[in-house]
Amino acid sequence: MKDVDMIKKQLNHRSIRHYKDEPLDAEIIDVLLQVANASATSNGLQSYSMIIVDDPIKKDKLAAIARQDYVRDIPFLVLFVVDAHRNTAILNQHGVMDTTLDSMTVFFQGFSDALIGAQSMVSGAEALDLGTLYIGGVLNDPQALIDMFALPQLTMPILALGIGHPKQIPAIKPKMPLVERVFVNEYQHQSNYKEALQSFNEALKGYVDLRAPNQPGVDFVTRLKKKNASVNQKRDAILSVIQAQGFDINNRKDEI
Ligand SMILES: Cc1cc2nc3c(=O)[nH]c(=O)nc-3n(C[C@H](O)[C@H](O)[C@H](O)COP(=O)(O)O)c2cc1C
Repeated sequence: MKDVDMIKKQLNHRSIRHYKDEPLDAEIIDVLLQVANASATSNGLQSYSMIIVDDPIKKDKLAAIARQDYVRDIPFLVLFVVDAHRNTAILNQHGVMDTTLDSMTVFFQGFSDALIGAQSMVSGAEALDLGTLYIGGVLNDPQALIDMFALPQLTMPILALGIGHPKQIPAIKPKMPLVERVFVNEYQHQSNYKEALQSFNEALKGYVDLRAPNQPGVDFVTRLKKKNASVNQKRDAILSVIQAQGFDINNRKDEI
């Protein structure tokens, strides 16, 4: 295989949670936004928007919502927002008042488009030796985001992405063996995950998470059990916020 630099950098991915106090060049920001904008988009509809957050007070609030202090110090922060509002307004301004962009299909188109745009930005940033961090924690309080960013009906925040010059080099976090995740033509059931994941679990025990460098690594099963036992009430309320934003996600007429 060709010695492709970008692939090497993608295989070298690790989330970066601490950054140098150094802003990104305007030129780099522009390139990263262009990269997201150039990505594939369902039906060509581009049903998402990006909100750059450079107001320190808003960054503070995002860190508080995500309950992660390091968020406030990330030099470049973008909030990804599912956006059917813009296309509805475009229709309205062209005389079409009977609109249907509140559908579940459009919501999921916007959701997947936004994630594809975000990951394009991540790959672009990593190609430039920048660090990146997804911050799903902002969804602890989606209504607070809606209020803070004046998000209109038919929009929904889904994820924040942080980018900057890394101040740390964490270890690469071990991932599950591909054989457990890649199937050919049909799903393969694994009857003995205890055995199949043994070396992966061992590798994770040796992984040092720089958020808690003195604690022993946590294996996958322990992490999964913890997740399984925790219920985040605010996260569970997301569906009702999506509906309150005007998306008719139970729409039975909807087609996929
Ligand atoms: C959708 C999504 C949301 C995430 N949210 C957070 C977050 O709120 N805070 C955080 O520190 N890391 C977050 N992460 C990063 C993951 O914890 C990280 O990708 C995972 O542990 C694997 O580590 P790695 O990225 O270093 O390979 C998120 C990742 C994804 C894909």
